[in-house]
Amino acid sequence: MAKLIIVSNRLPVKLQEKEGELSYKTSEGGLATGLGSIYKQKDNLWIGWPGMVVNEPEKQDKITEDLRPENMHPVFLTETEIKEFYEGFSNETLWPTFHYFSQYAIYEQQLWETYVKVNEKYCEEVVKQAGPEDTIWVHDYQLLLLPSMLRERLPDSTIGFFQHIPFPSYEVFRLLPWRKSLLEGMLGADLVGFHTYDDMRHFLSSVNRIVGYGSMHGWINTPSRSLLVDSFPMGIDYEKYAGTAASEEVKKRERIYRSNLNAQKIILSIDRLDYSKGIAQRLKAFELFLEKYPEFHEQVTLLMLVVPSRDAVEKYKELKEEVDELVGRINGKYSHINWNPIQYFYRSYPLETLSAFYRMADVALVTPMRDGMNLVCKEYVASKLDQKGVLILSEMAGASKELSDALLINPNDINQIVESLYTALTMPEEMQQAQMQNMQESLQRYNIHHWVSMFMDRLSYVKIKQMSLATSYLDEATFLEMSDAYDSASSRLFFLEYDGALVDYRNRPLMARPDDELMDLLELISSNPKNRVVVVSSREKATMQDWLGHLNIDIIAEHGVWIKQRGTGWQTMLSLMDDWKKDIRLILDLYVDRTPGSFIEEKEYSLVWHYRRVETGLGDLRARELVSHLNFLASNSNLQVLDGQMAVEVKAQEINKGKASSYWLSKFPHKFVVAVGDDWGDEDIFKAMPREAYTIKVGNAYSVAKYHVDTCEEARKTLLRLVQSSSKQEQTSGGALMTG
Ligand code: UDP
Ligand code: G6P
Repeated sequence: MAKLIIVSNRLPVKLQEKEGELSYKTSEGGLATGLGSIYKQKDNLWIGWPGMVVNEPEKQDKITEDLRPENMHPVFLTETEIKEFYEGFSNETLWPTFHYFSQYAIYEQQLWETYVKVNEKYCEEVVKQAGPEDTIWVHDYQLLLLPSMLRERLPDSTIGFFQHIPFPSYEVFRLLPWRKSLLEGMLGADLVGFHTYDDMRHFLSSVNRIVGYGSMHGWINTPSRSLLVDSFPMGIDYEKYAGTAASEEVKKRERIYRSNLNAQKIILSIDRLDYSKGIAQRLKAFELFLEKYPEFHEQVTLLMLVVPSRDAVEKYKELKEEVDELVGRINGKYSHINWNPIQYFYRSYPLETLSAFYRMADVALVTPMRDGMNLVCKEYVASKLDQKGVLILSEMAGASKELSDALLINPNDINQIVESLYTALTMPEEMQQAQMQNMQESLQRYNIHHWVSMFMDRLSYVKIKQMSLATSYLDEATFLEMSDAYDSASSRLFFLEYDGALVDYRNRPLMARPDDELMDLLELISSNPKNRVVVVSSREKATMQDWLGHLNIDIIAEHGVWIKQRGTGWQTMLSLMDDWKKDIRLILDLYVDRTPGSFIEEKEYSLVWHYRRVETGLGDLRARELVSHLNFLASNSNLQVLDGQMAVEVKAQEINKGKASSYWLSKFPHKFVVAVGDDWGDEDIFKAMPREAYTIKVGNAYSVAKYHVDTCEEARKTLLRLVQSSSKQEQTSGGALMTG
């Protein structure tokens, strides 16, 4: 059975050894806690490092055995690999660069080489575990090279990649000496996901400028394949956090902690020890708050949990000293017998304790300098069962794009943090509840299950699209087969798109007049009584009439609004359908699911998808994507898609090229059909064609057409050869008849 293989540097458990006894503890960090509920399902598997150096082969075997029933498979790293790959390249080169702390980044060739080797090591392990139907989902910055390594070994596999930390702007990313290899590594995936639109935008711009591939609606076409880049804000297991907060055990713990803190107001701060989290800046803001608002002395406590992290890395050691010093200084300055302004704990806690802290906190102060997402703030909101409490959240956390009801602050603006603390501590309860309710509704809907299913749905969509869009070159063998089909057909239909397929694009549209060669070609094809030629265009009917009206051909003009059958005048195609709403609504619902803040409005004759409340930029991106999605899907129905002000409207409309072409298919006999087109709009024509039709795309872009040729000139030559070789044959056979 097909399974999902999650691959990340760290497993969701950490191995510990005390007095020769092995035990497993839950890993901290958003990646491990976020995906914790997913890998246990069915036969899924999580491949990663168990968090401890184990050199003895027997012990490694035992650990592998222990982890197997838990759906985990360990990758063992040596001491040097941990030093150079994990602490070194991952956390002293990539982490600071990606979090805009490039002044902390070190660039050492040796570390890079080990990074490559360890990515290869992960690749080996995945290849050993992966079956042909499995989906491989690689996570985070420690494994940026893995997608393309896997692609090389398993070319047809389905590979997703998700980055949990920010992707910096091109100006910062380009500082890395290995920038091109890193991007190429990621491009091995079929789908590359980020938490926010800004991250994906930065990634696309770096790919464009460093690797040279452009993108359209998030699609990148490399010479060999196309892949999609998109944003998927990660949610939390809402029910788990809300359920834990409701448990008797957690309520009991809350009562104990509260009585220890003398019922003061509590400001909560929880992070791994990391300079990206802004812990020192937060402490300074709290100090200024105490100085500015002395009425809060003895009334408020900052409960600060700092989880030990990467303590072998120099910058983390320095930060630990700085935090210790700051806490000491502030407590030294303000505390007295009944009151310690800061309760500081340097350790990690189990879920029940965290949940009790979330429940009792009046304010959560989450002020990272940069954070891919930040799950702590979401967990706080989900744990607030009475909806009382205020979240102060940094604009620099990915979560701020979704939680716009929080008090948003710039973590560099110490005065703004101080004032937000005051606002939060004095906020009326009704306002707290209103804000909390909005945030809870959003987190409930966009939860971790939603995140996984959105990512997986997109990944399957990419695979289907890749398969359906792969066209093969119209080679000689295919041409001969086409030529045979042509010869033996008693009736033939030619759908020939004008601009881009028959005639090259010109700077000015009216310069693309038909030349003599084209006129001769069209005359030659249409002179055979078995042939019917339909020239399809989005141009005005007047131009088409002027240029081609005198030929013995049919014409579709203005996308199919006007049609002309040979020997007759122009007529419009009018027909209205009204049963389209149900299907289109399903598509719009999908976009609401993928786009927090968007909604659907239903009018009598139209459906509208509004995105004015969506994260800036993301709304535009989704709108463009929706427009092309709708165009693609609705090509055979009477729909018009209007790209409006912060809204996309779909309404019934009369016609499109595909629909118009279908009209010919239904009206005229056709034992042989060929359709030649070039751009996205011509996909409608290809889709309307019967299965046995020869659909030919001009240009080697992905298409629903079966074949492609490279240029207009080649398209014309193909058509000419087709009719010439056959006309010769027909002449010959005619000649034979005549002589016979
Ligand atoms: N966490 C934990 N134990 C602790 C403190 C935190 O398990 O003592 C968890 C917390 O619940 C959250 C994760 O660690 O799920 C931190 O994730 P976040 O995205 O906020 O930050 P990251 O550490 O990934 O940068
Ligand atoms: C962040 C990263 C994860 C990492 C976690 C803990 O959440 O995105 O990839 O696992 O921090 O860091 P650590 O270095 O302990 O794995």
